[in-house]
Amino acid sequence: MFANLQYPIIQAPMAGGIATADLAIAVSRCGGLGFLAAGYKTPEAIEQEIIKCKDSALPFGVNLFVPQNDEMDESLHLYKERLEEDFRIRLALPEPGDDYWQEKLELVMKHKVPYVSFTFGCPPEDIIEQLKNNGSRVIVTVTNLEEAKIAAENGAEAICLQGPEAGGHRATFRNVDEDTHVPLIELIAMTRKVIPLPIIAAGGIMNGKDIHLALNAGADAVQLGTAFLCTEESGANPVYKRALTSGEFAETALTRTFTGRLARGLKNEFMTRYENIAPAIYPAVNALTQPIRAKALKDQNPQAMSLWAGTRFQEIRKGAVKDVFEQLIKELEEYQS
Ligand SMILES: Cc1cc2nc3c(=O)[nH]c(=O)nc-3n(C[C@H](O)[C@H](O)[C@H](O)COP(=O)(O)O)c2cc1C
Repeated sequence: MFANLQYPIIQAPMAGGIATADLAIAVSRCGGLGFLAAGYKTPEAIEQEIIKCKDSALPFGVNLFVPQNDEMDESLHLYKERLEEDFRIRLALPEPGDDYWQEKLELVMKHKVPYVSFTFGCPPEDIIEQLKNNGSRVIVTVTNLEEAKIAAENGAEAICLQGPEAGGHRATFRNVDEDTHVPLIELIAMTRKVIPLPIIAAGGIMNGKDIHLALNAGADAVQLGTAFLCTEESGANPVYKRALTSGEFAETALTRTFTGRLARGLKNEFMTRYENIAPAIYPAVNALTQPIRAKALKDQNPQAMSLWAGTRFQEIRKGAVKDVFEQLIKELEEYQS
């Protein structure tokens, strides 16, 4: 599955403009696997990035969100009214959409993207089959054994196993309140016993020792998101990068306040204030809070921005991808020798 990679190290797809083509290419150039994030992007924008990655002639992947639309109800209206009052802003209730699912599938087919991964669900067997027949390697992101079994039954060639330490959204197939207490290393060992597919382990992997431990526990590759957030090639904005490294934030937490779906980020005032009233309605809440987040960025106010990060964000390294990657390999080799 990863035989063409020099190192089994994957850069996590990170939606929100972070996993740029520059980031993906830089990681693949180091011998890892760079990933583009198609979530929330227009087909035109993601196609430009795909073309840039293809032109590099290096391996790369594209990640797609499996569409879902939680039903809107009164709780969304109440949340909207409360946010409008607190932020003195007019917010619009979004129209249901599918994030251009069909168009994005057609794009990854058209460009024969080498690796295609899915998050927030498992596509039906026929879609996975079509992609495989078209030459793509298909990965489904899962958070537990039950989801891993579904991915295997539907024909996935590998699973990306996301532990509770991970930054960003929980990849659960359904928008649920879940028990997230099994740490990644235990999750890998449990899954390895039952699922015969290659496992890509994700969540709280920050250095060579973590990579070694994940591989030792039974993973075939690792996927790192937070570790690449503050690299020069990352598309994270300067306010976000500063928040991650300034020491202003002490911890991360899971929250629904920004998007309606559980996601891990730096614990800020917005999360604390709205934790009890934010409804579990995705992606409507994501669209609803967008103008608030955009204004916070403009005002350079990290207290009302979504600052996705894994539990180990305090160990983030800055610099060019090349330097961060070389350090990971150096540490990994020390542990392996
Ligand atoms: C800012 C950010 C955005 C993310 N966006 C996506 C995404 O678009 N698709 C996806 O499958 N995972 C996404 N993730 C989750 C990662 O794939 C991965 O599970 C996570 O980064 C691993 O934990 P770590 O951040 O501690 O390394 C995101 C993570 C972060 C930090």
